[in-house]
Amino acid sequence: MKKVVVLTGAGISAESGIQTFRGADGLWEGHDVMEVASPEGWAANRELVLNFYNERRRQLKTVKPNPAHEALVKLEEQYDVHIITQNVDDLHERAGSSNILHLHGELTKARSTVDRALVLKWPDDLNLGDKCPKGSQLRPHIVWFGEDVPMLHRAVTTISDADIAMIIGTSMQVYPAAGLIGYAPVDIPVYYIDPNPAKDAAHAYCNNLTIVEAKAGEALPNIVDKLLSQNLS
Ligand code: APR
Repeated sequence: MKKVVVLTGAGISAESGIQTFRGADGLWEGHDVMEVASPEGWAANRELVLNFYNERRRQLKTVKPNPAHEALVKLEEQYDVHIITQNVDDLHERAGSSNILHLHGELTKARSTVDRALVLKWPDDLNLGDKCPKGSQLRPHIVWFGEDVPMLHRAVTTISDADIAMIIGTSMQVYPAAGLIGYAPVDIPVYYIDPNPAKDAAHAYCNNLTIVEAKAGEALPNIVDKLLSQNLS
C-alpha cells in the first residue's frame, strides 16, 4: 500500500466550528498568546491558563468532525494513511482515523508538572488543586510556545518515506511543524489545501506541489475520491 502522510492544522477543523489561530476572528486575536500558551504565562497565572483551556475543552464537546476529517478515514480503504496534526482537538480520532500523531499535544489530556511522561485522560475542566499521582498540580497536555516538541522525531521519521503528502489548513508559520514537509522525499506529489495558502513557504519545500485554494471540507472529499479511483496502491 502506498503511504500518504497528511499534515493538518487548524483549518481542517474550521468547518466544524473551531476557530483557527490567526486571521480576522482567530483565537489569538482576543488573547495575549504568551499569557495563555507559554511556560511564563503558566508561572504567572495558572488559573487564567486553566480557564483558557477549560473553555476550549468545553467547546470541543459541542462540535463534531466534518467531511474533511471523514475523507481522510475513507482514504484508508486503499492507502496507508498517517496524520500528523498540529491540532489539539480530537476530531481526527472521533472521525475514526487510525494513525494520528499530535505534535502540539491534546486538549483532552492533562499532565504532571513534575513528570512529563505522566499523562492522564482529562475530558472535563482542569482546576487548581487537581493533582497528579505524584502530588503535583496538573497542567494541560499542550506544547506551549517556547517548549520543545517531543513528537517531532517520530513525525520526521513518519514523513521521510511517504509516497504522497498533504498539507491541510495551516498557515505554515509555526516551526518546527511548518518545516516538516521538508523531510518528505523531495519529488513526491504534495497537495496543499487551504483557502489562503502560504504559497511561498510550500513552494520552498516541494518540487511537485498542487495547491488547492479551497476549504478542506469542500475540496478534500474530491481529492480523496480521485486518489481512490487512481487505485495506486
Ligand atoms: N479549510 C482549510 N483551511 C482553512 C479553512 C478551511 N475551511 N479555514 C481556514 N483555513 C486555513 C487558513 O487559511 C490558514 O492558512 O487554516 C489556516 C489556519 O492557520 P493558523 O490559524 O495559523 O493555524 P495553524 O497553522 O494550525 O497554527 C499552527 O500555531 O498557535 C499555534 O499551536 C498553535 O497549532 C497551532 C500552530
